[in-house]
Amino acid sequence: MSDNSLTITDNRNGRTYEIAITHDTIRAMDLRQIKVNPDDFGLMSYDPAFKNTASTISEITFIDGDKGILRYRGYPIEQLAKNCTFLEVAYLIIAGVLPTKAELEEYDGFIQRHILVHENIKDLIQGFRYDAHPMSMLISMVSALSTFYPGARNVDNPDNRQLQMTRLVAKMPTLAAFAYRFSMGYPIIYPDPDLSYAGNFLNMMFRRAEPKYIPDPVLERTLDVLFILHADHEQNCGTNAMRSVGSSRVDPYSATAAAAAALYGPLHGGANEAVLRMLYDIGGVENVPAYIERVKAGEFRLMGFGHRVYKNHDPRATIIKEMAHEVFEVTGKNPLLDIALELETIALEDEYFVSRKLYPNVDFYSGIIYQAMGLPMTMFPVMFAIPRTVGWLAQWQELITDSEQAIARPRQIYLGNDLMEYVPIDKRG
Ligand code: CMC
Repeated sequence: MSDNSLTITDNRNGRTYEIAITHDTIRAMDLRQIKVNPDDFGLMSYDPAFKNTASTISEITFIDGDKGILRYRGYPIEQLAKNCTFLEVAYLIIAGVLPTKAELEEYDGFIQRHILVHENIKDLIQGFRYDAHPMSMLISMVSALSTFYPGARNVDNPDNRQLQMTRLVAKMPTLAAFAYRFSMGYPIIYPDPDLSYAGNFLNMMFRRAEPKYIPDPVLERTLDVLFILHADHEQNCGTNAMRSVGSSRVDPYSATAAAAAALYGPLHGGANEAVLRMLYDIGGVENVPAYIERVKAGEFRLMGFGHRVYKNHDPRATIIKEMAHEVFEVTGKNPLLDIALELETIALEDEYFVSRKLYPNVDFYSGIIYQAMGLPMTMFPVMFAIPRTVGWLAQWQELITDSEQAIARPRQIYLGNDLMEYVPIDKRG
């Protein structure tokens, strides 16, 4: 018997089984041999919300939730946030290695070449109601890209995959800015090839009548770092959606639209918007203790707190909190900051939050920064989706090239009716 194995005794019939342990994991399919009768289906594991199930072997992002560690391709997030540009990190996440200077220049050139979107996308936006949520518009526009690039369906060709990934990384800021400008009733601004990825996004968002938009260097760098921090986070809800939908071998635009839809929810990328709404609801520092009591009574959750994986601290939140002060020197202090700081102080000392290991997550401070930059709350999940597209695409590529993967199709435990006899409508009830 190997040391790296698990011996299972089935107490229904006394039989024992030896199951191999690899990477501290057993293969769920190895349970299938455990049967009482030859015609049994075999044992399954039950794991709603995948709380203890690894769905893939991945080489992209490492998280140690207990220690508060996040690394892309082995590089600590702190080092990347300090030293890299977002496009450098995007290259790293997708290609697996940091680019040389020449490779980064070439990648930058590819991104610039693909930054424009088809003019018909503007007609698509015009079809939305004036108050459409920018995230819903973004999801629709990303999905619509699959109609402009039908060749993207050839997911097995590596060159084709590379082309589609570059296209989408390039176009996300353009689509996001289109959604914002439409929701504000402003004319569309086209990209400026002289600017960086983040600088150009600020240009497409905020340029008015000036002939050339010059981004504030602090805000440009802050945005670039925020993009770096949000670029990937291994198998979260959105990435799981990307992989699950991508496993049907649909084109990457359709799969990314599904991932973005998952991100939109308030328990995921919608949380930074929910944090701001919560801070407005609280209204003032003096109301924080009463609000915390209501959270503890189970009335609602403290938005921007808690994480499925991080049970010590969220390293992204630490970096963002430090950056917030630099941003406020440029933009002026966001009055909601005081409420947020008070919430954090009280919650971090309270037994309810301490015992459940609930700490501020990435969304707790990002919304306050985005608001100080002049972004409406509805744009916050959009700001998350732009950089996360890089992670989604890298994870999608890994899935497509992983020979162990197949179409995602979980099992269920059926506890519904036994066989029922159809009853005509006039004989029911
Ligand atoms: N406020 C109050 N209580 C909480 C919170 C919170 N934010 N989060 C978890 N709990 C409690 C929960 O009620 C439960 O208590 P009990 O054991 O008494 O029933 C316990 O902590 C464990 O909660 P859980 O739901 O099992 O934890 P989870 O790992 O399934 O949920 C989470 C993780 C992020 C969905 C959750 O913490 C949450 O809803 N947070 C608020 C929303 C939020 O900030 N989301 C952004 C996540 S980070 C960005 C991203 O990755 O998208």
